Amino acid sequence: MSQLEIKDLHVSIEDKEILKGLSLTLKQGEIHAIMGPNGTGKSTLAYTLMGHPNYTVTSGEVLLDGENVLEMEPDERSRAGVFLAFQYPVAIPGVTVANFLRSAVNSRRRAENPEDKGMPIPEFRKMLKEKMDALKMDHNFAGRYLNDGFSGGEKKRAEILQMATLKPRFAILDETDSGLDIDALRIVSEGVNALSGPELGVLVITHYQRLLNYIKPQFVHVMMGGRIVESGGPELALHLEEHGYDWLREKADEAAA
Ligand SMILES: Nc1ncnc2c1ncn2[C@@H]1O[C@H](COP(=O)(O)OP(=O)(O)OP(=O)(O)O)[C@@H](O)[C@H]1O
Ligand SMILES: [Mg+2]
Repeated sequence: MSQLEIKDLHVSIEDKEILKGLSLTLKQGEIHAIMGPNGTGKSTLAYTLMGHPNYTVTSGEVLLDGENVLEMEPDERSRAGVFLAFQYPVAIPGVTVANFLRSAVNSRRRAENPEDKGMPIPEFRKMLKEKMDALKMDHNFAGRYLNDGFSGGEKKRAEILQMATLKPRFAILDETDSGLDIDALRIVSEGVNALSGPELGVLVITHYQRLLNYIKPQFVHVMMGGRIVESGGPELALHLEEHGYDWLREKADEAAA
C-alpha cells in the first residue's frame, strides 16, 4: 500500500509564508477532506503538490512511499501516480478530450517503456467508451475541445474522466465555491465514488459540507492559518456546518504563537 506523506511543510509565495508547518498522511484507499476559511492556504497546498513554480517550499517534506516528491518535475509526479484537479482548469482549443487523454496515456506508457508505440486507437476508443459509460457520460463529449466553452460541470466531468483514464494512486481535488452548482458537486462526488477503492487515495478540498454528503471521507481536517488545526471523522464536517470556524480560531492562534 502506498502513502503520500506531507511533513511539516512550509511554503511561501513571493516571500509571504502561506503554509506554516502542515502535516498530513494520505494512504491508498483512504478519503480525506480538507475544509477551512478562504485564504488559509488550501489551494496553495494543491499547487505545491503539483510543483507549481510560484510556490517555494522553504522547509518540510513530501514523500511518496519514501521518495521525495518535491524533487520531481510536475510530469514525473503525475507518472508516479499523483493526480491533481484544479479550481480553474485551462481550455485547450483545438485539442479534443479524446486526443488529450490519448496523449496523456501514451506519454505515461512511454515513460515506463521508451519503446512503447502507444495504445492502439481501437483499444483506446474502447477503453474511453467504457470509462465514459461508467461515469454516465455522453460519448460526444470525447470529441469536444478540452475545456473550451465547457460549463463548470463539464469541466469537472472532463477532470473525472481524466482521472479515470490515468488511474492515479492519489488524487487531490481542489473545489471552489464559485461556479459549482449542485449538479457539478454531484458529478465530482459520483465520479470519485465510482473510482474510489483500495487502489486510490483521495484528498478533497472543499467548503461544502454538502459535498461530503456524497463523498464519504473517513477523515476531515480543518486548515487555518496555513496549518491543520483540527482533524476528525465525518462528524467534524457536520459540526463545522453548524458552528462555523470561530470555535477553532483560538486553537489556530495558539498554534501560530
Ligand atoms: N500568486 C500569489 N501571489 C500572492 N499571494 C498569493 C498568491 N497565491 C495565493 N496567495 C495568497 O495566499 C493565501 C492563500 O491562498 P489560497 O489560494 O491557498 O487559499 P485557499 O485556502 O485555497 O482559499 P479559498 O478557500 O478562497 O479557495 C491568500 O492570502 C492568497 O492571497
Ligand atoms: Mg482555494
